[in-house]
Amino acid sequence: MSTTLQTSVEPHPVTTISSVGRHAGEVVVIRGWLYNKRESGKLLFPIFRDGTGLIQGVVAKNAVPPEVFDAVKSLTDESSVIVTGKVRADERAPGGYELDVQRVEVVQRVPEDDPFPITRKEHGVDFLMEHRHLWVRTPRQAAILRVRSEIEKAMHDFFDDRDFTRTDPPILTPAACEGTSTLFPVDYFEEQAFLTQSGQLYIEATALALGKVYSFGPTFRAEKSKTRRHLTEFWMVEPEVAYLELDGLMALAEEFVSHIVARVLERRRPELQIIGRDLSKLASVKPPFPRISYDDAVQLLQEGHAKGELEAKFEWGGDFGSPDETYISAQFDRPVIVHRYPAQVKAFYMEPDPKRPELALACDVLAPEGYGEIIGGSQRTASYELLVQRIQQHNLPIEAFRWYLDLRKYGSVPHSGFGMGIERAVAWICGLDHVRETIPFARMLHRLYP
Ligand code: 4AD
Ligand code: MG
Repeated sequence: MSTTLQTSVEPHPVTTISSVGRHAGEVVVIRGWLYNKRESGKLLFPIFRDGTGLIQGVVAKNAVPPEVFDAVKSLTDESSVIVTGKVRADERAPGGYELDVQRVEVVQRVPEDDPFPITRKEHGVDFLMEHRHLWVRTPRQAAILRVRSEIEKAMHDFFDDRDFTRTDPPILTPAACEGTSTLFPVDYFEEQAFLTQSGQLYIEATALALGKVYSFGPTFRAEKSKTRRHLTEFWMVEPEVAYLELDGLMALAEEFVSHIVARVLERRRPELQIIGRDLSKLASVKPPFPRISYDDAVQLLQEGHAKGELEAKFEWGGDFGSPDETYISAQFDRPVIVHRYPAQVKAFYMEPDPKRPELALACDVLAPEGYGEIIGGSQRTASYELLVQRIQQHNLPIEAFRWYLDLRKYGSVPHSGFGMGIERAVAWICGLDHVRETIPFARMLHRLYP
């Protein structure tokens, strides 16, 4: 290990690559890694990264002591280094600056015979996922994680600005929220517990205590299907509001999604550019979003089938599959809200439409460009009797829901909420093919390592 890591003994200011612009003309210290290097005769062009960006260094043989030149010349990719150099503005440089290197201290050198496994050549996705702990260092992956972080910050700000209280639901739960087919069982001493599928039932309780609440945490579904949209562990943000009905919920969802997209466009343009996102597609994400009923959506699908754009004919009463969602969302330039689904395809806790009780007061937000469902939500059943009936119809253990039924006994009110899986939102906003790149370490059907 290096002995000069302490900043206090450095004669020059320690800075980050993203803020070198404040030090133009000065000598600074950057602590990071060698990303890559080029050589051209007596010049070396090491590119350094430090987690905030990339900067190209210039090392001229006749301008530095021979040991500095040799150290850089023999430096291997991803070796950790502390670099001292003079910041020089250069219009041609990607970040606008270059570093005239004066000194390089190698903190740890990656051995030549066991080089960094991820190179600039194409790797297969399995290889990359197997090396995810290293893959996250590459600029595109780092940019995606920065966008994800911005989305998380934006959503907290959104709810905080609207006087929501964040309440954290449990992860270990005694019963299903979203149906029993995707539960992960856990031994809980003498009892059977399950990893939570959604915090919803618990934040319904806190909503009746505090009015407007939200939760954000990991949720788990034993999804046995391999799709581009499904993880077994994903992070869900869920608002829940007392005295809110379906129309208000749709307005909240629309405002929420627009806020997040606007924030990413405002603060994370450079990252979106690294990712290669077409920004014009995001610029149209503004309220109002089109709202169509399930009936209208079915009609769209049937027309699509008649035109030969969809293989199977969709029958009223079924749940939308990925190709259906893709087709519906592709008809609009911004997210579309589909509301009032047949109760039979939705969860047990949804309020029936008083005008057509076979429908649930549910809404899904489908993202454009074929991304499909990013949000699912509903108004919740307010009646004690109806809820008991639904729990029985869904073959759920009524004993485990005793506390949940209490919420309908003691001051029941209309209330509504939704959940957004943030990996789906990141995939759409970044324009990615698969949710596996939206989370630092994805958990999927055949992926538990690293
Ligand atoms: O539509 P879902 O199942 O709704 C609920 O869980 C409700 N309890 C939420 C609520 O009303 N508070 O899931 C909500 C969202 C989906 O729209 C999707 O974005 C995401 O969670 N999601 C998944 N994301 C990744 N992988 C999976 N396997 C997902 N399942 C759902
Ligand atoms: Mg859903």
